[in-house]
Amino acid sequence: MMRYIPVLPVNELKNKEHKVVLLNGKKIILFKTDGKITAISNTCPHKAGPLGDGKIESRPDGMYIVCPWHGWKYNLVTGKVPPGYEGQQAVFDTKIEDGMILVSENPIINPEKIEPKENPLQDLIDLQYQTSNSSLNILGISTTNMNKNLPRVSTSELVLDDALKYAKEKYGASTVLIKLRDLEFRHCEGYYSRNEQACTWPCSISEMDPNDGMNEIYRKMVLWADMVIIGSPIRWGNPSALYFKMIERLNCVQNQITLQDRILIKNKVVCFIITGGQDNIQNVAGQMSTFFTQLGFSLPPFAFMGWSRGWIAEDMENNATLFSKSRYVKRSVKDLVDNSLKTLRQIKGDICIDINSPQPKLSESLNI
Ligand code: FES
Repeated sequence: MMRYIPVLPVNELKNKEHKVVLLNGKKIILFKTDGKITAISNTCPHKAGPLGDGKIESRPDGMYIVCPWHGWKYNLVTGKVPPGYEGQQAVFDTKIEDGMILVSENPIINPEKIEPKENPLQDLIDLQYQTSNSSLNILGISTTNMNKNLPRVSTSELVLDDALKYAKEKYGASTVLIKLRDLEFRHCEGYYSRNEQACTWPCSISEMDPNDGMNEIYRKMVLWADMVIIGSPIRWGNPSALYFKMIERLNCVQNQITLQDRILIKNKVVCFIITGGQDNIQNVAGQMSTFFTQLGFSLPPFAFMGWSRGWIAEDMENNATLFSKSRYVKRSVKDLVDNSLKTLRQIKGDICIDINSPQPKLSESLNI
C-alpha cells in the first residue's frame, strides 16, 4: 500500500499558488489550481534545473510551470510537456487529512528524460573528433560584418583567404572558410549567470534550436579543425561585434573545464589576422589570445599579423588599395601560416600530451 507523508498545512497553500516542499528530503512542488492540489518533482528532467523557481503559464491545454533554466514546460496535473513534445515530469498523488496536505511517498508517474530519438547534436555530445595525427584541417573564420547585397572589400577577409590558399597549396591542407555574417545564430542568453550548470555542452541554445548557426562553428572548430585562423577588423579599438557574439557562445566550451574538468580543445593551434584603418592591433590581439588559450588552443610564436594605417588615416576608401600593395602583408601572412603549422607539427608530435587546466573548478568557487 502506498504510504502518504504530510508535507504542508493545507491553509499555507493559497489558490493559484505553488510552493516547494520537502518529501523525504527531496524537493517537490505543490500547486493549487481551482481548489485542486497537485504535486510534481522540483528537479527538471532536462538538466536538473529548479522547476519551482519558474513561472506558471496558462496554455489552451492546461496550466504549465516553465523551467527557469531553458524554458521547458510541464503540466501541473499530468507532469507532461506540451503536446507534440516528449518528456514527463514525476507526478505524486496528494490528499488532505487533518488539515495537512499528504503526498505519496513515491511518484505515481515516473519522470521521462527529454531525449530526442535521433539527436541532431549527437556528434557534438559524443565529441566525434575528425582530427588525427596526420590531419591538417584549417578553419578560417571571418568576423567581418557587411551588407550581403552591398558587398565591400574586407582587408582582413582578403588576407584570411590568402592564408587558406597558401596553406592548401604549400602544405596540402584541407581548408574551410566560415563568414560569421552568413550564419544565423542567437546571442548568448546568459544561462551561465543563472546557474553554472545551466550552461551546457553543446550550448543550451543549440539544444533548443539544432539549426542555430553556432552549431556549424562548434562542429568545425571543436571536432574538425587542427588549426583556426580568426580574421577581424578593428572596431573602436576592439575585435568586431560579430567576434564577440561568437565567443560569448563559446562559453560552453570553456565551461566544460570548470564544471566537468573536461578540455574539449586539445592539440589545436589558433592565430589571428587583425586589420583596420586605424590602430589598436595589440589590444585586439591580446584579447583574442587570452580568450583562445582559455579554451585550450596553443599559440604559435608571433601569433598574429596586423595591419593598420594609424590614428589619422580617415581616408578609408584608400585602405584596400594600399593594403593590396603592402609587401609586409604578403610576406607576413605566409610567415603566420608557416609558424602556426610548425607549432601544430610540434604539438602533434606529442599528441598524447596530457593537458592540465589551471582554470578554476566549480569546487574551488568558494575561494577555499
Ligand atoms: S534544466 Fe529545465 S529546461 Fe533545462
